[in-house]
Amino acid sequence: MPREPVSTEFPAERAFLVGVEFHGAPTLMGLTDSLAELALLADTAGLIVVGQATQRLPHPDPKTYVGSGKVQEIRQLSEETLADVIIFDDELSPRHQRELERMMDENVRIIDRTALILDIFAQHAQSREGSLQVELAQYEYRLPRLTRAWTHLARQAGGGGGRAGAVGGVGLRGPGETQLEVDRREIGRRISHLRQELEKVRAHRKRYRARRKKADAPTVAIVGYTNAGKSTLLNLLARADVRVADQLFATLDPTTRRVELPGGHQVLVTDTVGFIQKLPTTLVAAFRATLEEIAEAELLLHVVDITHPNARAQAEAVRLALEEIGVTDIPMVTALNKIDRLPDSEAALADVDDFERAVPISALKGDGITSLKAALEHELFESMSPVVVRVPYRDGRLISLFHEQGLVERIEHEREQVLIEGRLPNRLLSEFRRYLAVETASPVETPGD
Ligand code: GTP
Repeated sequence: MPREPVSTEFPAERAFLVGVEFHGAPTLMGLTDSLAELALLADTAGLIVVGQATQRLPHPDPKTYVGSGKVQEIRQLSEETLADVIIFDDELSPRHQRELERMMDENVRIIDRTALILDIFAQHAQSREGSLQVELAQYEYRLPRLTRAWTHLARQAGGGGGRAGAVGGVGLRGPGETQLEVDRREIGRRISHLRQELEKVRAHRKRYRARRKKADAPTVAIVGYTNAGKSTLLNLLARADVRVADQLFATLDPTTRRVELPGGHQVLVTDTVGFIQKLPTTLVAAFRATLEEIAEAELLLHVVDITHPNARAQAEAVRLALEEIGVTDIPMVTALNKIDRLPDSEAALADVDDFERAVPISALKGDGITSLKAALEHELFESMSPVVVRVPYRDGRLISLFHEQGLVERIEHEREQVLIEGRLPNRLLSEFRRYLAVETASPVETPGD
């Protein structure tokens, strides 16, 4: 597999992986598959995987996360394999991380899946917004883990090492302050600065989005598990030149392209950040602006690598991540991708019923693209759902929109609002969500509303 230049943070270092499964804890993927994915992440970060250890436990050891016998085994194996870094497949609490560090050889660093993903994100962020978001996530992740002087930590933490080092350097100690307190204060300051900067970018993006909305072309957000083929599909749909790499998280910054559908309708298609199981919460929070692109879309195009042995678990991880960011009621078309890899083209058809409005495609070879475009067109411009809404008179724009684009079957003028019963194109459902009068049939669901 061709690889990008290796991480600045982990220059061809040797990594030893540790996976733990707790009895009864819900997991999307088994231990083996999750560790295989961690190995891919390590590879993407430029690390060489030299070994692994696993354990099944009733619950995490309060002190060392894994059992004490396992700690000794990991220490021995990591020494034998000359590992530089030990990576745990789940986010370690600061306490676990400290304790494990204490028990290992002092030349070996302990990190977790979150730190690794943050490092990959730091390597791949290209826009200013992407870099700000990753840097914020990195600092938020590090702050509670700050136990030694920053100089040590700058070596230890993720990709923004250069910038982080600069923060450590400026700490003038106040009276009675330890270096650690200075570092914490500096990081706290940096975090609030980054938040302010991101707020500005977000405001800019909002204005841009509002302009786009006026352009009156509905937006389709491509979502999917990392490496499913989202960028390849956008390239094919728009003949755009979006970076494609056989890597996890090659795309971080949303790219939007105009695409014409067979019936002549124009749509804007946005490629967004890939999802992965156990996506760090600090990252989800930091990437809110990017993820808002998804929440604002009229339609989701979910790309699933149907040839992946964990295709269903990956699709479920995407669904859960969408739920986490509050995206539950946007209609979805699923592209079952990479069918050129299947032994025969009929094989994907067996899976079609398991996914929402699924179309088998090959983004690489172009197979199925006409059907996919037709499905997008149908979903955006032809398919309608029955609704009953109560729209306040002050929101006249929505009342006219219903008349112009929907089918009004019954209308009642109430004191401050108008009750409209009828059918709306699916792409407009999210705009009317807050005014839904009663629960309506799929795909409008209003959990938590
Ligand atoms: P992230 O940026 O990690 O979220 O990835 P992505 O979903 O944008 O995937 P990308 O388009 O970068 O493709 C990942 C890999 O899958 C690349 O090596 C592509 O060439 C390959 N790929 C994409 N679509 C197809 C396909 O239809 N068939 C085959 N065989 N490979 C494909």
